[in-house]
Amino acid sequence: MVRASRGVDYAEFVQGLPKAELHIHIEGSLEPEMMWKLAERNGTSLPYESVDAIRQAYDFTCLQDFLDLYYAGMQVLEEERDFFELADAYFQRAERDNVRRVECFFDPQAHVARGVPLAHVMDGLSRAARKARERGVRVSFIVCFLRHLSEREAFRILEEAMPYRSEFIGVGLDSSELGNPPSKFERVFAAARDEGLRLTAHAGEEGPPSYIWEALDVLGVERIDHGNRALEDAALVSRLRRDQVPLTVCPLSNLKLAVVEDLAGHPLKRMLDLGLLVTVNSDDPAYFGGYVNANFTRVANALDLTPSDLTALADNSFVAAFRD
Ligand code: ADE
Ligand code: ZN
Repeated sequence: MVRASRGVDYAEFVQGLPKAELHIHIEGSLEPEMMWKLAERNGTSLPYESVDAIRQAYDFTCLQDFLDLYYAGMQVLEEERDFFELADAYFQRAERDNVRRVECFFDPQAHVARGVPLAHVMDGLSRAARKARERGVRVSFIVCFLRHLSEREAFRILEEAMPYRSEFIGVGLDSSELGNPPSKFERVFAAARDEGLRLTAHAGEEGPPSYIWEALDVLGVERIDHGNRALEDAALVSRLRRDQVPLTVCPLSNLKLAVVEDLAGHPLKRMLDLGLLVTVNSDDPAYFGGYVNANFTRVANALDLTPSDLTALADNSFVAAFRD
């Protein structure tokens, strides 16, 4: 049994904390079993001999390594019911972790580019969200722009998504960070803001602190997804603390993608001690070996977090949420 300081059982303590999950890519919750099932149902060929072989392939040395498998894996998603089943499974799983609110990323460009109608994506996700809301889980969606593509392509998907405007609350920026600075998307983020959308962006996962400055000052985002490398820049830390900009941190993702060497070296505790508004999230739980409670308990164990640290992290997730 994993024990926290003061004799608290981490797993039990974390289970008891209501929390919001603010950094989860729905396509990253595609478990190998579901990938296999959908591939059979849709006649998609997979480069794996078994479900076990899929899991064994999840050995990454950097973000791009992961992204290559992530985009390949999601090709099994085609029909409305595929997106429904994916999101429904994640919402049920999150609920078991005492997650009460989810602000869920998805990557529409990655589906439309394969010829999947946006209606299949939106209708399936929305149906799963309605079902979760009936159980009392508050669910919203955030459209992510793929930063390895052009700003023009980001504008195109934003326009295509507008008929579904009531189904999402914001836009984000994800995919290959290095070489794709936030400033590349200045105009499309301005257009999204004009539509009343909330703004967030991945920054400082692999990219330098300057990408976090750009996300804040050029894009005008309200949250930073990851933000690990902020700690290299004292002026940036002061800015994040002063404005209480939320950082959606993902410990097991950082471990699997070699952003940190081990969890004992994870910056989460330093971030808390510096007065930053940090939250704990699962990012792509099917690929990184754990949902949100596993992220909490494993990093708590590695960093010897106190019950009050854990409570602060869970409380922060509601403070950082776009919706009450
Ligand atoms: N897309 C899905 N997960 C991601 C991550 N951790 N970083 C960037 N893009 C992503
Ligand atoms: Zn992410």
